[in-house]
Amino acid sequence: MLGKGTFGQVTLTDGVAVKTPRRGQSLASEYETLRAINRLLPEHPHLVRVLGYEKSTESLRMEFLENHQPMNKIAWDTIQETEKRRYYRQLKRTVADLHDIGYAHHDIAPRNLMIDRSKRSLRLIDFGKAHSFRGDLGYACIREDRQAVKRIRDYLGL
Ligand SMILES: Nc1ncnc2c1ncn2[C@@H]1O[C@H](COP(=O)(O)OP(=O)(O)OP(=O)(O)O)[C@@H](O)[C@H]1O
Ligand SMILES: [Mg+2]
Repeated sequence: MLGKGTFGQVTLTDGVAVKTPRRGQSLASEYETLRAINRLLPEHPHLVRVLGYEKSTESLRMEFLENHQPMNKIAWDTIQETEKRRYYRQLKRTVADLHDIGYAHHDIAPRNLMIDRSKRSLRLIDFGKAHSFRGDLGYACIREDRQAVKRIRDYLGL
């Protein structure tokens, strides 16, 4: 078991992270959203990559983020400011990249940010609330994400 959340659970199966929804729910739209984002931002270093969707179990397959820990499991008071600033910069840039292609994440929170301390690298996960926006409605989405990014800055003590 890699994690448990409001949507279901994530397990490691054959080297792949598999997110399975709670009974009666589906991850089809999360899959489609992440697939579209991965296509628009190919090889993005700070976004998790989706690998496929399994119709029979409604589960989503994605790359396993080896050596990563969720931001909320790290003792940030023991970590240098330069390292924290690095993760914060990566997050800001990634959220801006999403907005540039017309997508909002809508769930930027420590439990959805995976950290690889050995590579000093952050990855954004959990696109269950993400969606595309167009026109004026986009401003509210962008503002909400940006406020969440500021809360991460406070969380890191920056
Ligand atoms: N690709 C991955 N590789 C390793 N661990 C992962 C991966 N994806 C998710 N996890 C782990 O599983 C947890 C739950 O995943 P995710 O956030 O996608 O589920 P959720 O049910 O939507 O969560 P939430 O509680 O935020 O609604 C994450 O916090 C993380 O610890
Ligand atoms: Mg989550």
